[in-house]
Amino acid sequence: MLSDGKLQTEKRAGKLANLRAALQANPRSADGIGIGHTRWATHGAPTDGNAHPHVDEMNRVAVVHNGIIENFAQLRMELEERGCKFRSETDTEVVAHMLSEQLTEHNGDLGAAMRPVCRRLEGAFTLVAISEDDPGLVVAARRNSPLVVGRGNGENFLASDVAAFIAHTRDAIELGQDQVVTITADSHSITDFDGNPSEGKEFRVMWDAAAAEKGGYPSFMEKEIHEQPAAIDQTLMGRLDTAGRLVLDELNIDESVLRSVDKIVVVACGTAYHSGLVAKYAIEHWCRIPTEVELAHEFRYRDPIVNEKTLVVSLSQSGETMDTIMAVRHAREQGAKTVAICNTNGSTIPRESDAVIYTHAGPEIAVASTKAFLSQIAAAYLLGLYLAQLRGNKFADEVADILAELNTMGAKIQQVLDGAAEIKAFGTSMADATSVLFLGRHVGFPVALEGALKLKEIAYIHAEGFAAGELKHGPIALIEPGQPVFVVVPSRRGRDSLHAKIVSNIQEIRARGAVTICIAEEGDEAVTPYADHVIRVPQSPTLLAPLLTTVPLQLFACAMAEAKGYDVDQPRNLAKSVTVE
Ligand code: F6R
Repeated sequence: MLSDGKLQTEKRAGKLANLRAALQANPRSADGIGIGHTRWATHGAPTDGNAHPHVDEMNRVAVVHNGIIENFAQLRMELEERGCKFRSETDTEVVAHMLSEQLTEHNGDLGAAMRPVCRRLEGAFTLVAISEDDPGLVVAARRNSPLVVGRGNGENFLASDVAAFIAHTRDAIELGQDQVVTITADSHSITDFDGNPSEGKEFRVMWDAAAAEKGGYPSFMEKEIHEQPAAIDQTLMGRLDTAGRLVLDELNIDESVLRSVDKIVVVACGTAYHSGLVAKYAIEHWCRIPTEVELAHEFRYRDPIVNEKTLVVSLSQSGETMDTIMAVRHAREQGAKTVAICNTNGSTIPRESDAVIYTHAGPEIAVASTKAFLSQIAAAYLLGLYLAQLRGNKFADEVADILAELNTMGAKIQQVLDGAAEIKAFGTSMADATSVLFLGRHVGFPVALEGALKLKEIAYIHAEGFAAGELKHGPIALIEPGQPVFVVVPSRRGRDSLHAKIVSNIQEIRARGAVTICIAEEGDEAVTPYADHVIRVPQSPTLLAPLLTTVPLQLFACAMAEAKGYDVDQPRNLAKSVTVE
């Protein structure tokens, strides 16, 4: 921050609370501008010295940076040859020194200094800088990394994501690639990296400011779990025309192109990848189009077979996951059409895709993804149904029937949530478990993977998800007395063989001492004799069941993390948007 025109820097490794305590111990008054960043360490250990901001040797300019500067070693060498002394091991510090040199060249004009610096940088960066030479302004720049301006009344903001400032303003400007923006309290101006005047895209954030608060829940994660009925309703809202046909207004890809698609490839990471795995079952079943689901970071390195007849569907909550961005770019280079299923308006992935279906789940603040997962499944199902309708795989009334079922899911999720206290109490009682396994079949398999991921990321417990049929091929060797195993039980009203097989699997593991926790439909008594614990979900068609069976697993992970005293919303080593490859 600037305090009486002087640059003052305070930074701490670890939680924000550490920084807050340091500022309380050494309070300073700010002149009205300041910058800050919670950095996910990429170069150097997470220490106070490597934390952001970084300043030049004269303490004249400070900078924070999101992303990775790929040519930093070369730049650092050049600066050191000119006598520059570095204080950190970060890639970012080169920017502070380069800005300082350019400030001298440009008579202290920070905007003018930023542009030549950006032209020399390779990689991904959002940079935000302030300097003593220009005390009333903040300068920022972006390439391959997100940046939005929030326009308030007599105050302006810069952030990676609108959630950071919606408590203050909903008027925002999305910056384009390779742009520099300068803000003061009541103005902003944008140029490209060469100084040519440029424009961003103005938009109004529709999210409610309250959506960024915890609303009485102990964590954002728990609040977001409870927001899932509304999130699903919003994803599905307004998708029927007056004739009762499914419409996807945003999907502005020529219908003849969509009819000629002969393969779908879904690219995503983490939880979003699991939603893609669920969607595959539905899309193939409804559209009869071969569908592959690929981890985005693996996709382009295996020289995938992708051409003009391939539809590449990316799934991303943030729209800023670098691995997914790179997969989408690769797909477009190969001539494929790309559709983004995304929760964040104006983010990079939808911008770089041919079409977008927004999930409208509202801001997801907790690092562990919950409502985004369910709404991604719902949106991918809309895409599948739309393609089935367009290509004649399903009659309009069949599509309408499935949509009607989908529209009941919000209320059914609410029924699961009505039992949240009991599920959480069970999670708390299991807090001493050191390993938990998850089994599922068909769409229950990705649900098992997701249940395991939630537990790993927030409760730091060894957890694995398996396809139940795979048990006998190896994983059953893990079962020893007392091993907790969650089993996602498919509906017996769907394919009876699936249900019967999983009941056998439950018996097999129980016989070897496992503690079995079954997530089963109301009325399914076949599992009761073999379950140590049953969590009931309402009845639903097989393909829609993941919208229900995932919810107890989210609550369970949340309870275990809380019982262990961990920070549910900000688990160690993880970032909400993974903007580096
Ligand atoms: C897990 C989680 C991550 C994200 C993944 C993709 O709870 O949040 O696995 O799902 O990093 O992020 P998005 O969806 O923003 O592309």
